[in-house]
Amino acid sequence: MDLTEDDVAAIYDVTDPWRAEPGTSDALYTEFAMSAQSVLDVGCGTGQMLHCLRDNGYTGRLAGIDPDAASLRRAQRRADIAVEWVEGTAADIPWKQEFEVATMANNAFQCLIEDDEVRASLTAIRGALTDGGRFLFETRHPQARAWEDWAAAEPRRLDFAGRVLVMSWEIESAVDGVVTMIETTSQEDGTVLHVGRDRLRFLDLPTLNAWLEDAGFVVEEQYGDFRRGPITSDSRSIVTIARTA
Ligand SMILES: C[S@@+](CC[C@H](N)C(=O)[O-])C[C@H]1O[C@@H](n2cnc3c(N)ncnc32)[C@H](O)[C@@H]1O
Repeated sequence: MDLTEDDVAAIYDVTDPWRAEPGTSDALYTEFAMSAQSVLDVGCGTGQMLHCLRDNGYTGRLAGIDPDAASLRRAQRRADIAVEWVEGTAADIPWKQEFEVATMANNAFQCLIEDDEVRASLTAIRGALTDGGRFLFETRHPQARAWEDWAAAEPRRLDFAGRVLVMSWEIESAVDGVVTMIETTSQEDGTVLHVGRDRLRFLDLPTLNAWLEDAGFVVEEQYGDFRRGPITSDSRSIVTIARTA
């Protein structure tokens, strides 16, 4: 039987669980969010970060926005915790000057593809923040050409709902900083259950920083990894904390 979009959202939590262990991106986001009284998670997906914050005793205001209905349905399964969930893109953010902190975890920023979309999203995130509010996000550094690793990756087997699934990836194109990747999920016998097509933008550092400034941000801290190391010619990520100007 084919996988539903709800299955795909549930599989994401199996393949990419939130793990706030020292030195990980999840730890940096968790620590950053815990320091504020209100947190907006943009591209919140299945809500893992916000769930984790509440489970860690966070008592402030939490909101999550994501355009993927199945992911949001999964996020909302946690009816025991108070989070404002909104279906929409970053550019659609409805809040104005309400949050001390905004986040885009696990490279959600790379889902912003067109120049206008990136710029409109940054402006909307800036608009949702209070004066002095801060925005933490990461984007893979184009110099590391991560898509070449994905194209070479061995298929991944996983157990899901009593079935063995096999996930594999192929790169359809990598053109002008936009990578299109096909993710195929199959049964062990090769029967295809789901095919997903993701586009990811790889933005260079000067353009990223210019657009942050245009949107009304000042880059406060910028790292090449989640242990707060500098950006070098080997860095695989650009991790940014930007403050409202
Ligand atoms: C790799 S997932 C990360 C999910 C979540 N932040 C996490 O850490 O588990 C990227 C998310 O970005 C969302 N997304 C795609 N386009 C978006 C947009 N234009 N604005 C905001 N989020 C978007 C996707 O639906 C997806 O849930």
